[in-house]
Amino acid sequence: MSTLSISLPGGIWTLGDLTVTRFGYGAMQLAGPGVMGPPTDHDGALAVLREVVDLGITHIDTADAYGPRVTNQLIREALHPYADSLHIVTKVGATRDEQGGWPPARRPEDLRRAVHENLENLGLETLDVVNLRLGDAQGPRPGSLAEAFETLVDLQRQGLIRHLGVSNATAEQVAEARSIAPIVCVQNMYNLAHRHDDELIDELAEQGIAYVPFFPLGGFSPLQSSALSAVAARLHATPMSVALAWLLRRSPNILLIPGTSSVAHLRENVAGAGLSLSDEDLAELDKIGR
Ligand SMILES: NC(=O)c1ccc[n+]([C@@H]2O[C@H](COP(=O)([O-])OP(=O)(O)OC[C@H]3O[C@@H](n4cnc5c(N)ncnc54)[C@H](OP(=O)(O)O)[C@@H]3O)[C@@H](O)[C@H]2O)c1
Repeated sequence: MSTLSISLPGGIWTLGDLTVTRFGYGAMQLAGPGVMGPPTDHDGALAVLREVVDLGITHIDTADAYGPRVTNQLIREALHPYADSLHIVTKVGATRDEQGGWPPARRPEDLRRAVHENLENLGLETLDVVNLRLGDAQGPRPGSLAEAFETLVDLQRQGLIRHLGVSNATAEQVAEARSIAPIVCVQNMYNLAHRHDDELIDELAEQGIAYVPFFPLGGFSPLQSSALSAVAARLHATPMSVALAWLLRRSPNILLIPGTSSVAHLRENVAGAGLSLSDEDLAELDKIGR
């Protein structure tokens, strides 16, 4: 790992035996509008990925469903052969339809195909971490994950996957996965304004399992809150910086994967996440999602 990465806000975390910077990067925004098709600025997308690595970030979150295939192929084009320190986390369990929807694809044959396609598109022989993506575009849905998760465990035994995680999951599904095989991360929607997983985050922290919030900046609709704007104005910072800095303070097992298609925004986010928040700031921010 470069010395620079150690100085990224939040320091480092280990996913099983893999060391990653807590400040990571989510690649979904690199695909075209609606996360479909190629980016409007192909070279710009490659530049963002190269900047990610140059900044010392060692955790990239992706999926073959982005584009579909587009972000994985961009990652390969920009960064392959990968540095040993770089860890790419992907997810399986959803596909894309012609309307841009995200239908589930969690039958054993769907998952086997998806793992092989991720390996091919990323140019890898083993995937570092694979999240089983559950639920639907509206959020987690109850129900057993056993058949799907056991399929991934089987692929892990074959050496195609190093570590497993779950995404868009209920607390019960997280517990069910853990009763089948160890997981290193849970990737769910969470940010200053959406705090449904507060209890789960604390439980996972005790177990040494990472919690990776998706939509850390609000996703497709930016976080808006008068309390957030007030704290940001007081600190002469942007609401996005405050939102990222708050997540790093919220719990040591939280890893950041903010998405951006812009080198300037990426740099802003790295700098912003290092913002120092006082106890007074934290108390004010804590009220937003309660
Ligand atoms: N597991 C799942 O089901 C799931 C679902 C959704 C997402 N994810 C993962 O989570 C990652 C993060 O989520 P996300 O990218 O959807 O949402 P996000 O990180 O909450 O927000 C991304 C949005 O914020 C904008 N943005 C970022 N930095 C900015 C800045 N400094 N100033 C102004 N605007 C800024 C981006 O636009 P610009 O491009 O213009 O910067 C983009 O529109 C994704 O990339 C993906 O890897 C997982």
